[in-house]
Amino acid sequence: MGLEVNEGRGFVLWLTGLSGAGKTTLAGRLVPELRARGLRVEVLDGDEVRTNLSKGLGFSKEDRDTNIRRIGYVARLLARNGVAAVTAAISPYREVRAEVRRAVEGDGAEFVEVYVECPLEVLAERDVKGLYRKALAGELKGFTGVSDPYEEPSAPDVVVRTDEEAIETSAERIILELERRGLLPTRFDVEELVLQGGADGHEHRTDV
Ligand code: ADX
Repeated sequence: MGLEVNEGRGFVLWLTGLSGAGKTTLAGRLVPELRARGLRVEVLDGDEVRTNLSKGLGFSKEDRDTNIRRIGYVARLLARNGVAAVTAAISPYREVRAEVRRAVEGDGAEFVEVYVECPLEVLAERDVKGLYRKALAGELKGFTGVSDPYEEPSAPDVVVRTDEEAIETSAERIILELERRGLLPTRFDVEELVLQGGADGHEHRTDV
């Protein structure tokens, strides 16, 4: 049975990419779908984490690394307790992302890195928060992608191009990768389980 494939198997779905590339939007699109398939899900969003867990941290390399290590640590605790932890922070440095991956995998959970890619020109054009304009004008120093580094993933598990494909397409490609890894039951498995009378996938299994 498909839903048993994932029983107790948490994982970390790590979204990385420039500010405004669509990490938060994508996480928001994925969460209901993962829940509908019986997973317990938690999102760790950079902007939100910075208002509580990482309050007081700035955007130096050291502070960003601390922020990412904290997000990684919480994601790891969640994953090893069977939760699907979705993170949405720029996480600009390759080495710290690799460090988090090693820690998660060391616990026996999977780490799926998604590069949420969008060209700087498009982001500067959209500029939802008005930060690119300030950064390009030199009013905001050390802004990722403009005056601060962003190290692209060298071997991402999934790459989504948010300027070229619809959000549904990006979400679907991530979902397919999770299914391929056996971390997410397929829609077919979920339907089959509902037909057997176990809509939530936990309390009414007929085949145990
Ligand atoms: S990270 O580098 O530590 O991973 P995080 O994702 O938590 O960054 O926060 C990024 C958000 O902080 C951006 O979306 C933007 O709204 C805001 N921000 C403010 N200053 C900067 C800056 N110098 N560089 C990047 N983002 C910034």
